Amino acid sequence: MEAIECIMTRRSVRNFKPDMPTDEEIKTVVEAARYAPSGMGRQTWHFVVVRNKDWLDRMNERVYSYVADVSKTSNLDRNGAKGYSCNYHSPVFIIVSADPQYGTSNDDCACALENMFLAAHAIGLATCWINQLGKEYCENIRDLLTEAGVPEGDMVYGCCALGYAGEEPTSRKERSDSVIYFD
Ligand SMILES: Cc1cc2nc3c(=O)[nH]c(=O)nc-3n(C[C@H](O)[C@H](O)[C@H](O)COP(=O)(O)O)c2cc1C
Repeated sequence: MEAIECIMTRRSVRNFKPDMPTDEEIKTVVEAARYAPSGMGRQTWHFVVVRNKDWLDRMNERVYSYVADVSKTSNLDRNGAKGYSCNYHSPVFIIVSADPQYGTSNDDCACALENMFLAAHAIGLATCWINQLGKEYCENIRDLLTEAGVPEGDMVYGCCALGYAGEEPTSRKERSDSVIYFD
């Protein structure tokens, strides 16, 4: 797929098939993350690829308990009959974390996430940014993050739900008129 077409046609997907992507597909996505730009080229990020359904179930139980409390605009009802899952029951969940002592950690992780979204889309996989483990939330589940392999000092800046799309994503909302040309 051409790069521009890939950028223009990517959509967030919130319904996944249970089928597991191949190791090769997952590696393609993670490699794209590793090649993202980072401030001073520091690459302090870590990408924890979770395929453990038991861990995902336990994580979602814990996330539900605090998201239901604090968020009025959460995705609590987006899963319908399938039940709550912040990652929409995706078979793969990639946690993107970094050492918060660096001023660009948040930006670095955002670049890595977007690289993953685009690489996944280019090879026919679906993604969605998942924020329920991010920043202030991640201390609520530090024990689970440690169990999965997230380094102790890292902060989670975002996660990627990954899998095969279970439905066509709904159309993108109109893009805002946000470009200013100054000649
Ligand atoms: C920083 C950030 C956080 C986001 N968090 C979530 C999230 O927690 N759950 C979710 O379903 N979508 C999340 N999204 C996806 C946005 O809702 C989505 O990108 C936006 O609605 C535009 O749709 P599109 O990705 O299909 O273009 C997030 C996106 C960004 C950039």
